[in-house]
Amino acid sequence: MTALRDAPWRAAGDDSIENLPPGMISPDERKYLGWLVREHFQGRGAILDMGVFTGASTCLFGEALRAIGKDKPGTIHSYDRFLMDAMMPRWIPDRREGDSFLPVWEANTRHLGDTVVCHPGDLLQERWQAGPVEILFVDIMKGWPLCEHVTRAFMPALAEGGFLVHQDLKFWACPWITYVMSKLRHCFEPVHNVIISTLGFRCTRQMTEADLDFEFGPQVLQDTSANVHFDWLLEVLPEPLDRVKIEGARARGYFMAGRPDLANEVLDRAREIYPANGYVYHCLPASRGFEEHRPEATRQRDRALEEEVLGTPTA
Ligand SMILES: C[S@@+](CC[C@H](N)C(=O)[O-])C[C@H]1O[C@@H](n2cnc3c(N)ncnc32)[C@H](O)[C@@H]1O
Repeated sequence: MTALRDAPWRAAGDDSIENLPPGMISPDERKYLGWLVREHFQGRGAILDMGVFTGASTCLFGEALRAIGKDKPGTIHSYDRFLMDAMMPRWIPDRREGDSFLPVWEANTRHLGDTVVCHPGDLLQERWQAGPVEILFVDIMKGWPLCEHVTRAFMPALAEGGFLVHQDLKFWACPWITYVMSKLRHCFEPVHNVIISTLGFRCTRQMTEADLDFEFGPQVLQDTSANVHFDWLLEVLPEPLDRVKIEGARARGYFMAGRPDLANEVLDRAREIYPANGYVYHCLPASRGFEEHRPEATRQRDRALEEEVLGTPTA
């Protein structure tokens, strides 16, 4: 396995992350996306850009394609439903929940011209039938249905040697991504560990129908046989900060499968293993969805620790 501790994109002097549209991806994630195209893109397939929001990733990909020049031509396919949710006015203050933000993305990416093809609308209605994919950037797997759809309708087009970048792999709230990548581990090698939530994989073997012969849905995480998936990721990412996030995802997976008992066990064990502050800051939100299932004493302790770390009590 490649040394996941190496982060060459961090060292590279990179002014391409200045003046980008605002958004939810971190500075390290921004540096990484441009570097990935500049260093690894061969011009043998498309770049799929999923969950583009205001267009930061689109600009990073587009500007990196320009930088590597015409001998490695590429097209970016950008996907989003472009509908404001309750959180988004923080980044686009002049729009309200339910408004379209497509004009914002268009204004931010217009300079990239026909390098970019936009696919507005619900991704669940889209399929990919336009040839090989070389980079698949996924910041859109926000639930089981999107996880299954991206995996079945897009991931099989990723060519051997191409890259799959999961922005939410280390995010405690998306346990399905750990599950699916564990199921497909024979087709992917984890190669880039990016701050805050991203893991980049190299495709070592193009997926076939046979690779997709498994179930999706919260029920697949309903008993301790699911531990194998989170334990696989713990081996890939042994650093304490990453381990804390993985335990948060394991707990959330159990909770969503109707097993708050197992979720509580995971959180209690994680508390004993990891430093309180790291645990609270990264994992406590995992307990919010099942607050009423937590013993009262544990809830009080969580609130006190969170107040100590974040300075504000849990609502
Ligand atoms: C976490 S945000 C992406 C953040 C973005 N990558 C950035 O750099 O700021 C997730 C995006 O997925 C989009 N999205 C969520 N569900 C979708 C769906 N079913 N179809 C299309 N887009 C969807 C949202 O509109 C949102 O822009």
